[in-house]
Amino acid sequence: MEKLQVKEITGPAWASSLLEKIEPKLEATVERNFGKIPYVSTNGVYDDKNQNDISWWTNGFYAGELWQLYHLTGKKIYLKGARNVELLLDRAFSEFEGLHHDVGFMWLHTGVADYRITANRDSYIRGLHAATILAGRYNPVGKFIRAWNRDLSGWVIIDSLMNIPILYWASAETGDPRFKQIAMNHADTLLKYLIRSDGSAAHIGSFNAENGDFIETIGGQGFDADSAWSRGQAWAIYGYALSYHHTKEKRYLDAAKRIANFFIANVSQCDYLTLVDFKAPYSELKYDASAGVCAACGMLEIAKWVTPNEKGLYSDAATKILQKTAEVWGDWNPETDGIITATSHSYHQEEETHVPIVYGDYYFVEGLLRLTGNELFLW
Ligand code: GLY
Repeated sequence: MEKLQVKEITGPAWASSLLEKIEPKLEATVERNFGKIPYVSTNGVYDDKNQNDISWWTNGFYAGELWQLYHLTGKKIYLKGARNVELLLDRAFSEFEGLHHDVGFMWLHTGVADYRITANRDSYIRGLHAATILAGRYNPVGKFIRAWNRDLSGWVIIDSLMNIPILYWASAETGDPRFKQIAMNHADTLLKYLIRSDGSAAHIGSFNAENGDFIETIGGQGFDADSAWSRGQAWAIYGYALSYHHTKEKRYLDAAKRIANFFIANVSQCDYLTLVDFKAPYSELKYDASAGVCAACGMLEIAKWVTPNEKGLYSDAATKILQKTAEVWGDWNPETDGIITATSHSYHQEEETHVPIVYGDYYFVEGLLRLTGNELFLW
């Protein structure tokens, strides 16, 4: 093993001591899984989306974890693992038809991350290619980015708020404002139609793709159309915080705060262990740790931009979520794949319930790095 060159880890002692456990675990993980693109870990073993779904929306997160660890330690094994995923994903570009609005998730943590860190020209082109695909999904009459393919030309989803940062990046890199204009129009449309007055967010919205008229909200991975799927809330919190980061438009920070306030009010009622849906029947408790840790990253982003008096609300809630998640669901064993053992795909689906899923692990690691001042900004 290479010698650890960890940067000085400051911040709360519990968070730095967890990073010291996670680092050897991830080094063992990347050695064991080289050539794979992991999604779910079952009985401690990662599956491989390179083999069975190269266009799967989560295919960038593992590389994101590895870039974060490369930034922390300087160990080449992480760079090698992350770049291998980036190269494998070129097949998704050439197959093309499997791609949809999640190209931001897929290439922000692969091509764009690589370019940000190493200035690699091929990686820059991959990032621009992904941004152009996302911009091409824009409906100029309805002012939204369509989510999926097939006949769903009028559907939008809240998750897309985490994909549009690749458009902000593309505008900043190229000087062409159109990417950013599309991102902002889409963020404004979702703010108008998917964010409710109580601060919660709907998952899916449907529009008439011909004339742009809004039709209705639709249930997705939460309990139903009127409920509050917690990962959707997290996408909205962090997504609007990032739109603020890139544009400095106050309405986005206000939206992020409003949705975060709703999240904090709810998660504080379940001991900071995030339920899969905050407006579902309370009888059967199902959790989704990924929602908590992604929302925590969003809250830490909000805390960077609010007044000193407001900061504590967001950073304290984020800290409690990360700490409690680690205490109850952390797996630090270097021989098993996956870190956080209670991510759930959705409210109604039984498969992929309370298992390690790669995006839950990514946001957990990013959250700890943010708390200790060591994160690499990948959005
Ligand atoms: N719709 C992607 C997710 O599971 O969050």
